Amino acid sequence: MITQKQRRTEKGLCFKHYYKWILCFSLTLYFVASFFVDHDQEDHPSSSLSPSNPLITNPKPKPLPSRAMFESKIHNQRLSFPLQRPNIRTDVFNNLKIYVYDLPSKFNKDWLANERCSNHLFAAEVALHKALLSLDGDVRTEDPYEADFFFVPVYVSCNFSTVNGFPAIGHARSLINEAIDLVSAQHPFWNRTSGSDHVFAATHDFGSCFHTMEDRAIADGVPRMLRNSIVLQTFGVTYKHPCQEVENVVIPPYISPESLRKTQKNIPAAKERDIRVFFRGKMEIHPKNISGRFYSKRIRTEIWRSYGGDRRFYLQRQRFAGYQSEIARSVFCLCPLGWAPWSPRLVESVALGCVPVIIADGIRLPFPSAVRWPDISLTVAERDVGRLGDILEHVAATNLSDIQKNLEDPSVRRALLFNVPPREGDATWQVLEALSKKLNRSVRRKSNDVL
Ligand SMILES: *[C@@H]1O[C@H](CO)[C@@H](O)[C@H](O)[C@H]1NC(C)=O
Ligand SMILES: *[C@@H]1O[C@H](CO)[C@@H](O)[C@H](O)[C@H]1NC(C)=O
Ligand SMILES: *[C@@H]1O[C@H](CO)[C@@H](O)[C@H](O)[C@H]1NC(C)=O
Ligand SMILES: *[C@@H]1O[C@H](CO)[C@@H](O)[C@H](O)[C@H]1NC(C)=O
Ligand SMILES: *[C@@H]1O[C@H](CO)[C@@H](O)[C@H](O)[C@H]1NC(C)=O
Repeated sequence: MITQKQRRTEKGLCFKHYYKWILCFSLTLYFVASFFVDHDQEDHPSSSLSPSNPLITNPKPKPLPSRAMFESKIHNQRLSFPLQRPNIRTDVFNNLKIYVYDLPSKFNKDWLANERCSNHLFAAEVALHKALLSLDGDVRTEDPYEADFFFVPVYVSCNFSTVNGFPAIGHARSLINEAIDLVSAQHPFWNRTSGSDHVFAATHDFGSCFHTMEDRAIADGVPRMLRNSIVLQTFGVTYKHPCQEVENVVIPPYISPESLRKTQKNIPAAKERDIRVFFRGKMEIHPKNISGRFYSKRIRTEIWRSYGGDRRFYLQRQRFAGYQSEIARSVFCLCPLGWAPWSPRLVESVALGCVPVIIADGIRLPFPSAVRWPDISLTVAERDVGRLGDILEHVAATNLSDIQKNLEDPSVRRALLFNVPPREGDATWQVLEALSKKLNRSVRRKSNDVL
């Protein structure tokens, strides 16, 4: 029924004014996605989906290292890190074992025919899957009977509309339900726990609600089939919200590490940051009331009105493929909410050393135990956005250099990026770490009493 309705909406877009607004409304967050169209793919699906990856192995289990040892190890290897082979060992995560279902290709690999599928800002669903597959013979197990968790790889964000290029997620619920039907019919593991040890990714606006419009997302809620499971989602708020009424881990949106590397390579080493405050993105001058909501709660409109003529602020409303180089030139990068509170700018700002200025009340940020967000970013309350200029001046005069120094810590940048294969400390690593804290859901642990 949802799919039907969505389909009708898509069709209506071409002719009806009203539907034009639905288009703007539901798809705004996606505009950044098209920036990635022209990026080279770092990894080729065929190779990363191949059955074995000899690079990552650690046949001998080692005694569990203490947390302190583990962290100092990361610290010591920091400088040489990029040259290191990935070495994600099961002992680090309390012998966590994940089984990745091999679903028919229509649930995942077929979508990769479109290169954008693995590069746009919702592509964490793809990157995580590839990363887990590349953990052959280690955290990933091919024996489901020894698994703690079961990853169900369904790509729901790659059905790009032929009309506007934005992902249509109207089919998400039915695709996921179909995958669960299949998995529960063919394997005994789903029924054993009603899916509580099964893991999904939900990487678009409102996470496990699988709808791009918040009122619809809230009305639909988390699909019944998923409610016992663990969802890795980009959406997260600190208050009660129907789209996180499920065991969840907040993950960062996907930014291609390769695109960031390219941007960094093109920055002259000693270049000063000549832009004081940067924002490029949708800033509506007259936002419309859609189902009682205004885009960005009119925060971006207020930024434009208050600072559009302010020389300290470099505000742009048009798309520009080279916007990452602008971030690299900026001191402060605004990360205001859109429809959803989260923003790809957060990851890009951190990765490129621009102090993120988060304007999204109640946002829950990814991996707080790995990324000390208060040390590397600024949070400005939505109601204070009219004082942004003063607030940033104050910070520039007091603790800006402290924040910038904290931002230089490579472990912070690394934690927000998905690599294939994964690297120690990166986003996939953080997901594994988070899952290792949920091992009381593991049937294997309960029966063996190893916890
Ligand atoms: C993809 O989205 C279109 C609408 O844009 C819809 O008609 C089509 O059924 C979707 N494809 C799948 C496989 O769900
Ligand atoms: C799991 O339960 C469903 C619904 O009760 C049933 O159709 C399916 O056959 C069961 N799966 C297995 C492997 O027994
Ligand atoms: C927005 O529209 C809703 C009806 O959809 C209405 O109840 C509400 O008062 C409007 N809000 C504003 C600020 O205009
Ligand atoms: C910097 O100062 C601002 C207030 O001016 C404060 O909110 C913020 O927490 C400080 N950050 C750090 C890392 O000291
Ligand atoms: C697992 O532990 C967490 C607290 O760490 C608790 O909230 C949760 O209810 C436990 N789950 C099960 C299935 O025991």
